[in-house]
Amino acid sequence: MCGIFAVTKQKNAADTVLNGLKQLEYRGYDSWGVAVVTHNTFAVEKHAGKIGASVHSLPQSTMGFGHTRWATHGGVTDANAHPHLDCTKRIAIVHNGIIENYQELKKSLKKRHTFRSETDTEVLIHVIEENLQKNTFVETVRHAFQRLHGLNAVLVFSAEDHTLVAAKTGSPLILGRTKDSEYLFSSDLASLSTIAEKVRPLEDGEMVVVRNNTVRLYTLSGKKKTLKLATADALFSSQKVDKGGYAHFMLKEMHEQPRVIRHIAESAQQKNTTELVAHIKHAERGVFVGCGSAYYASLAGTALFAHFAQKQWSAVQGNEYHAISPALTKNMTALCISQSGETIDVVEPAKDMKKRGMHVDALVNVMGSALSRLADTTIPLTAGPEICVASTKALTAMISHLIVLASAVGRKCVYGQGILKKAEKSIETLLTPQYYKRYLAPVIPLLAKQKNMFYIGRGFSYPTALESALKMKEIAYIHAEGFAGGELKHGMIALIEKGTPCVVFAPDDAEYDAVVANAMEIRARGGVMIGISSKPNSTFDIFLPVGDAQEATLLPHIVVGQLLAYYTAVRLGRDIDKPRNLAKSVTVK
Ligand code: F6R
Repeated sequence: MCGIFAVTKQKNAADTVLNGLKQLEYRGYDSWGVAVVTHNTFAVEKHAGKIGASVHSLPQSTMGFGHTRWATHGGVTDANAHPHLDCTKRIAIVHNGIIENYQELKKSLKKRHTFRSETDTEVLIHVIEENLQKNTFVETVRHAFQRLHGLNAVLVFSAEDHTLVAAKTGSPLILGRTKDSEYLFSSDLASLSTIAEKVRPLEDGEMVVVRNNTVRLYTLSGKKKTLKLATADALFSSQKVDKGGYAHFMLKEMHEQPRVIRHIAESAQQKNTTELVAHIKHAERGVFVGCGSAYYASLAGTALFAHFAQKQWSAVQGNEYHAISPALTKNMTALCISQSGETIDVVEPAKDMKKRGMHVDALVNVMGSALSRLADTTIPLTAGPEICVASTKALTAMISHLIVLASAVGRKCVYGQGILKKAEKSIETLLTPQYYKRYLAPVIPLLAKQKNMFYIGRGFSYPTALESALKMKEIAYIHAEGFAGGELKHGMIALIEKGTPCVVFAPDDAEYDAVVANAMEIRARGGVMIGISSKPNSTFDIFLPVGDAQEATLLPHIVVGQLLAYYTAVRLGRDIDKPRNLAKSVTVK
């Protein structure tokens, strides 16, 4: 989703900004722009589309800033790309978030200002311009920003004053300082790791002013605060983020899963896990909050907590939190799950639950992110940077941590570690060239020609079915639906036609016979059954054998779902790591 990158006091600011934007690319975007301060105004370059091998033609400057835009208000055009300038071209803005009251603000400005874009962002720059005569630049920005509704992060620049104001109520924004005392801003911690020595993520309600290379921190109500920068997170500074010889980040990240799962199994007794186990044991009830794949991990969490610990937890998609929040009480505990830790639909519920006095814990991959900062206890996923937009290793890490937690609450910690190790071994086999050649390669041509396909599972395998269908949709752009096997007869079966492929997740557990019976119902109507199991069955037209790992079998099954989606997408020539319309970090509501 939208990304901001800015630098002050760099001889060649535009180069640094363009490189910074390239590091934000993985978050997903559809247009971009860079600007530098030059002779009391700005030189700007903006383009619809990807940065690719683009070079800029901007002059040398000591202050530069840029933006990757993921369109919300207005189409994907050069004009709608950020930065935006005021009518006099003396102030400029880059913005992440949504200005919810932009229409109302625009109404009163339209007669006196020329709007060059359809964005909500441009409204703020004209509000500032309109009020600039009455106050200093910094105060004008502060007052204007306070008039905005919604969750926003902005950088506003004055070319005359050589001043930058950063303000935030929602989207992530991190201040960094290089060893040469140059200041940087980015919406992504990882992008600062190679250049910033020290960082300070801005909290909501804060404002930073950079002028003459001095930096000051304020609250949005104008009160001065002490600014302390901390060493950039070791996790990111120590890890090289490249494809490591793999064709795509997704392939590399799938191959990292056995190592990630082994590490989680081996470090199951860490302090934060013990703390979380205590919270879960003592809580009357609990709720998982997550979005997308992290929501499916949450659903797996409800089954795992019930099975191992006889704890009845519910799971809610962060964006539907408002529907359950009236029933929450302070005796409940929450576990928020997020790879990025910046998904606004998870961060906002976490804040609300804290206000209600609930215990709010988190499973997060990006330490230093908003969620990790506000949770009472955070367990780092330790999956390492995940660059492909579609989540793989972060999702299996989430589920692995949930297995550790559930088995620890149920006093079966060693058993939990044991099944994770079995899952690791099973996944290693799935990732071999032999497995690809013998089992996956023959099935890919069938999948690649489909318009629709289905995935079914029961119990632990229900989230597996949902997740596998999501992967196929996200990267192969094939319409795929995941269902609980038992739901078939309640509607979905109407869609089965001769030749429709249906993937059946059938672990060797208490649900095996029932899910095979569901598969028979589909097959009787012409569906082609692709069975994923350790146990063959005559109902499966195609059988993909997967080593059993007891309750952790959903992990290797999810990996088969990932591999089917990946190779289908490769065959269809899709943009695997950056699928169309998607963003890695969803920082707007
Ligand atoms: C699926 C995917 C998304 C994310 C969702 C939540 O492959 O990547 O569905 O799982 O956007 O993101 P995080 O985990 O960062 O909160």
